[in-house]
Amino acid sequence: MSRPWVDFINIDEQPLQNCANELGAFTYREFASGTTRNEGKNSPIIAPGKSIMLELESSSTISAHTAPVMIRAFIFEGKIKLDGKELPDRSYLEIAAGSQVPAITTSGKARIFVTYDGEYTITSAKATNNEIVIKQTKDLVWRSPVVSDFPGGAARKAFYDHGDYGSGILGILPEWESPFYEWHTFSEEILIVEGSIISSFGTMKRGAYLSHPGGEDTVHGPMYSKEGCLMLVLREGPIGNTFTPADPAEVASRKE
Ligand SMILES: [Fe+2]
Repeated sequence: MSRPWVDFINIDEQPLQNCANELGAFTYREFASGTTRNEGKNSPIIAPGKSIMLELESSSTISAHTAPVMIRAFIFEGKIKLDGKELPDRSYLEIAAGSQVPAITTSGKARIFVTYDGEYTITSAKATNNEIVIKQTKDLVWRSPVVSDFPGGAARKAFYDHGDYGSGILGILPEWESPFYEWHTFSEEILIVEGSIISSFGTMKRGAYLSHPGGEDTVHGPMYSKEGCLMLVLREGPIGNTFTPADPAEVASRKE
């Protein structure tokens, strides 16, 4: 599964939207909508699904409830409390469908990236299990990227890898470059957390988001970063990357 192709948008340029339901009243901005089968750039939308930035005001409350679908979330800015326990920015949360979403409260503003496939239907059904993964970026060690021949100068902090799903922070050094065109078998969602990276469609900075479904026609690159970059990367689908050397003129153009 995948979000449709988006490359790329800046979150602060997206309109604020409102949502009110049994859990509270919220504002959010949308990155992408719909779930595709992960079969290339024009893979049709076959189900609902969303990637959003929840924009929580100070003293917000989201009531505890049962997750209707699997939820993957990342605290982009500010901090939140989960059942009263504080979680700082750059924390990752993954909650399995049917598990309990703890009560969420804020004491200052907070921005949370949230992505899920399917319809977020709130029910009164009791949680049948309690599968929740919580990771903090600062507690994790850097390891090699999951793609074995990834260009040097990159490392990854893994949040949670299971089945075809993966999530983590990818870090690239200043002056990192990828002089390749690439496409992959998995879909990726990327949110820039710090620094910048220049790709096929311009310079992505903090708050920039892209979604690349898997498939041969989703070629992207080459890439370059002058100052280095930290990015949230969410993967879905089997790991497989195809790199081919990019046109040298195009590689050079990234550094202009
Ligand atoms: Fe990619």
